[in-house]
Amino acid sequence: MSNRTVVITGANGEIGHLLLETLSAAKATIIAVDLTPLSEYHTSLCEEVIVGDICDDEVIRDIEKYDINEIFHLAAILSTSGEKNPERAHHINVDGTMNFLQLAYRIGKRTGNAVKMLFPSTIAAYGVPNLSIKNSAKPAKELDFTSPFTMYGINKMYNEQLGRYYSDCYKRLSPTKESGFVDFRALRFPGLISAFTIPTGGTSDYAPEMIHNAAQHKPYACFVRPDATIPFMAMPDAVKALLGLAAAPLSALTQRVYNVTSFSPSAANIAEMVTSEFPEALITFEPQQQRQEIIDSWPAEVDDSQARKDWNWHPDFSFTATFKDYLIPNIRAHYAK
Ligand code: NAD
Ligand code: SER
Repeated sequence: MSNRTVVITGANGEIGHLLLETLSAAKATIIAVDLTPLSEYHTSLCEEVIVGDICDDEVIRDIEKYDINEIFHLAAILSTSGEKNPERAHHINVDGTMNFLQLAYRIGKRTGNAVKMLFPSTIAAYGVPNLSIKNSAKPAKELDFTSPFTMYGINKMYNEQLGRYYSDCYKRLSPTKESGFVDFRALRFPGLISAFTIPTGGTSDYAPEMIHNAAQHKPYACFVRPDATIPFMAMPDAVKALLGLAAAPLSALTQRVYNVTSFSPSAANIAEMVTSEFPEALITFEPQQQRQEIIDSWPAEVDDSQARKDWNWHPDFSFTATFKDYLIPNIRAHYAK
């Protein structure tokens, strides 16, 4: 029996499902929060499921009764949805995160144990000024290209700073010690690809959409150019990264925000791989200018050497292994049901 009590916000999302299953297998006590109700199966893995809004004070009060060790704060409005309603994105992404940072601080202070807050940041936190710079740039390090283009990217970048503030600088003029009760750790994820879920509201969605449509024998019009290139990662590696960073001793960490990456195919490379597995797939390219501009502002490659060095990060799935060992067998089984 683990004595680890964790909160997962956004537990009903793509990452949430696999993280919930993995933490449940590790015998964690799980409090799940989402706007939408979890399936019966996922509910059965939790101590409590709170169906509600991360911006709602009542939701926060419900969680505060637990002596939480870790918060995996996944709930967010992603990049494309955020551009459709920037004010809503700001409210949920920033105010919602503030609520959980303050909650972590109060629980940490009450229990005397710092609450770890694991935060999925994103390649959208980067803003590469133009395509020619993108095409000639080295893999982006964490402090490169710090002017993101989207509301989502701006929210994530600001949240990274808020997390660092609550961990290391909170109320620095107070006569009592107030920092050290929150241990914020963030990963800048690339686009994620799951065999089991089709994302909504992101801009990296063209890759999973291409694959899942082919598996269902549906034609797919890709909304970015064939040469569009950003980093991607298989979903099991994303959960591995979250749990790896959570497990790292604080003394090993030289920064609170880490890049992690796996492979950087162009949209054409993905289409070729998909058609090699599903020869009847009908994939066309119909770029949408606004979404293309978002992808063009994200680096083609990121440098995750600091994560590799500090907490021994490495992905298990290369581009080929993501398809051959993870996506194709699971997707075929999934749609055969
Ligand atoms: P998702 O959209 O599948 O899941 C997000 C979940 O959050 C949803 O279940 C949604 O109902 C919930 N949610 C949204 N607003 C909420 C609110 N106000 N209160 C409570 N719940 C709310 O997204 P995901 O792919 O699982 O992403 C999880 C996190 O990882 C997000 O923070 C996202 O920014 C980050 N991330 C994802 C990717 C990716 O490619 N999927 C890449 C980088 C970072
Ligand atoms: N996959 C995410 C998005 O496209 C990146 O964080 O919004």
